[in-house]
Amino acid sequence: MQAKITALGTYVPERIVDNHYFESIIDTNDEWIVSRTGIRTRRFASEFEYTTHLCAAAVENLVEENNVVLDDVDFIIVATVTPDQIMPSVASQVQEKLGLRHTGAIDIAAACAGFAYGIILANGLIAAGTHRKVLVFGAETLSKFTNFEDRTSCILFGDGAGVVLVEATPKGNILAGVTGSQGDGGKDLYMSHMRKQINGQDVITDNKIHQNGRAVFKWAVNTVSAQMPLLAGRAGLTLNDIDWFIPHSANLRIIETLCSQSGFPLEKTLESITLFGNTSSASIPLALHRGLREGKVKKGDKLMLIGFGGGLVYAGVVLEWDV
Ligand code: COA
Repeated sequence: MQAKITALGTYVPERIVDNHYFESIIDTNDEWIVSRTGIRTRRFASEFEYTTHLCAAAVENLVEENNVVLDDVDFIIVATVTPDQIMPSVASQVQEKLGLRHTGAIDIAAACAGFAYGIILANGLIAAGTHRKVLVFGAETLSKFTNFEDRTSCILFGDGAGVVLVEATPKGNILAGVTGSQGDGGKDLYMSHMRKQINGQDVITDNKIHQNGRAVFKWAVNTVSAQMPLLAGRAGLTLNDIDWFIPHSANLRIIETLCSQSGFPLEKTLESITLFGNTSSASIPLALHRGLREGKVKKGDKLMLIGFGGGLVYAGVVLEWDV
């Protein structure tokens, strides 16, 4: 059997945070943020909303918008670097919320590449014949781990979630995949988080994302622009055959530079950065959903998804959209 993506759902929290919000807490302004990143707004989860809640809302949206049954899901993968806690996993919490009784459940940490990694793993589970129906989430509550005193990074991040259902079928739609890691760049983008009890309250401490923005920018554009034609080639295609390129939405300038370096037309890219900021593993499904809602992505289109981020890691897939 082969793997096929059969449904997509997304969710973003209600609270919209515009760039002017940051003018009151750090030395910045709307014009700098828009010109350097493309970001106009992002969403922040409420005090009581964690990554598990975002996943549950995204899967609710998947069910609402698609004619699918989830009772026989047999594996859940949640790509996140902002889990509610390290243990139990977000995936197990989602399993409980969905009332699924016979499913495996794991979280994977591959930062902004997590969603593409999740699809590659789901593809492998189905191709191996051990599983038939896998939910793959990319979900983050980055606002809970952002250093709001660091003006170079705090303006970037937002919260959101996306999920796809990957099912076993005789003819799949995942045409190719690629993964890579460059651990010596780990020092340029990292985060640690711990929780402790203070006066009976569960408190997140050391919740900082640390980033050398210029180094990450340079690595991302060089690595991803080199991988784009190679990944197309693995699918037996060239970049000319790709209808929509959906890179991780880290920064609009990264997307523009990827297109100029690879010769790919910018107007054939989909992004979620302008409305939702950098939502790490959620950015690709959010961009894809936006492309579908705007009527851009059509059945039969060839899509190239490439995520990249902390690790440093990257992962990409080529799909033929058939939902
Ligand atoms: N508001 C106003 N000025 C700011 C600012 C802010 N929020 N943040 C930084 N600046 C200033 C800097 O202090 C610097 O001033 P100086 O020239 O007087 O020293 C100037 O703006 C330029 O800073 P620099 O860091 O060179 O900006 P940049 O053009 O590289 O943009 C990022 C910074 C973070 C937006 C950019 O590097 C980036 O997006 N990198 C990739 C990050 C990323 O995508 N990470 C996730 C990957 S998954």
